[in-house]
Amino acid sequence: MIKIENIQMDGDYYSLLLEYLSNKTGLNFEYYRRNFVERRLKARMIRVNCSTLHSYYYYVKGNILEIEKFLDSFNINYSCFFRNWEVFQQFENFFLKCLDYKKKDILTNLKPKSKKGSIKKSRDSLKNIENSENRSSYRKLMTIRSQNALEFSEKTSLYRKINGTSRSKGIVNIWSCPCASGEEPYSIAIILDNLKKQIPEFPQFKIIASDIDKDAINKAHIGLYNENVMQEISRFNEGNYFIIAENRFGNRYLINEDVKRYVEFIEEDITNGHKKTKKYDIIFCRYLLIYISREARNNFLDIIEKQLNPGGLLILGKTETLFNSYNTLKLIDSRNHIYLKIN
Ligand SMILES: C[S@@+](CC[C@H](N)C(=O)[O-])C[C@H]1O[C@@H](n2cnc3c(N)ncnc32)[C@H](O)[C@@H]1O
Repeated sequence: MIKIENIQMDGDYYSLLLEYLSNKTGLNFEYYRRNFVERRLKARMIRVNCSTLHSYYYYVKGNILEIEKFLDSFNINYSCFFRNWEVFQQFENFFLKCLDYKKKDILTNLKPKSKKGSIKKSRDSLKNIENSENRSSYRKLMTIRSQNALEFSEKTSLYRKINGTSRSKGIVNIWSCPCASGEEPYSIAIILDNLKKQIPEFPQFKIIASDIDKDAINKAHIGLYNENVMQEISRFNEGNYFIIAENRFGNRYLINEDVKRYVEFIEEDITNGHKKTKKYDIIFCRYLLIYISREARNNFLDIIEKQLNPGGLLILGKTETLFNSYNTLKLIDSRNHIYLKIN
C-alpha cells in the first residue's frame, strides 16, 4: 500500500484535477485551504492506489464513481446534538434575557448526560493556570470569562423583535450554515420549543438550515440518528424530543415531527451565495471557516454579514474566530465567539 509521505502532489495536475472536479461537481475548490484539499486527495489516492496526481487525474477521468467518493471524503459531516453545549446555553440565555425571564423560573437547556468529565477538566485547567507562575495569563483569562455578552441583548434585533411595537415585532429568523445532517438546527429547535412551551407569548421563529451535501440534507429530512451523536444532549431533551428504538446495534433516535416543522432544509454551496433573500436575527456558522482558505474567507464572511439584520448575532462557536471584529461584526462573547452586527 502507498504511504502518505510518498505521494507526489505534482503542481500542474493539481490545478487540472481540481478544474475537472469543479466542472463535474460545481464545487469551488479555491475556497478551501490547500492543505485541507490535499489531505482529502491523499486519502482517496491511498484508497485507489495512485501515488501521483497525474495517475489519480486519469483514474478519476476513467471512473465516474470516484468523483462521488472524493466528494464524500471532502464533506466532513461530523456533527452532534448540542455540540459544545455551552454555546447553546449562551444562545438560550440571549432569548431569556430578551424576554426578561430569569432562569430559575423555568426549565432550561439542561446539562448533557455525559458532561461531568469535561466540566471537571476545564476546572482543572483553570487551577493549573492559577498555580502557575504565569499570573498575567490567568488574569487575562478571567477578564475574558467575566465579560458579559448578555449586556448587549438590548442592542440585538432579537430584542427588537420580541419587545418592539406590534409593527416591528415579527418572526425570529435563524440560519444554521452549514447544518450537516440536521443535528445543529434540531438542537436550536429543541431549545426554543422547550421555552415556547413554558413562556406565554413566546415569539414565532423559523430555522433555515443549509448544507452543500445532498446526502446529509436527506438524512436531516429523515431525522434518524445513532447513539454517537447523542452524547451532549440531556436525558430530558432526549426523552421528550425523540422516539427511541432499540436494536442489537444500540439505540436509534427519531426526532419528533413537532421539532421538524420549525426547520426548513436547503441544499446549497454557500460559496455561491445563499438561496434565501430573507435576513436573519441569528446565524450559526460553526465548523466551516476552518476549511476555508484565507483568501476566500472574506468573500464568504461578506455573504454571512449581508444576510444578518442590523443587531443580528453571528455564532461561530468554540473553534473559529474573527478576532475582535470584521467590518460591522463586533465580538461580544470571546468564549463562544459570538459577534453582534452593529447597526
Ligand atoms: C463539520 S460539519 C459542521 C456542522 C455543524 N455546523 C456543526 O457544528 O456540527 C461541516 C459541514 O460543512 C459542509 N460544507 C462544506 N463546504 C460547504 C459549502 N461550500 N457550502 C455549504 N456547506 C458546506 C459539509 O458538507 C459539512 O456538512
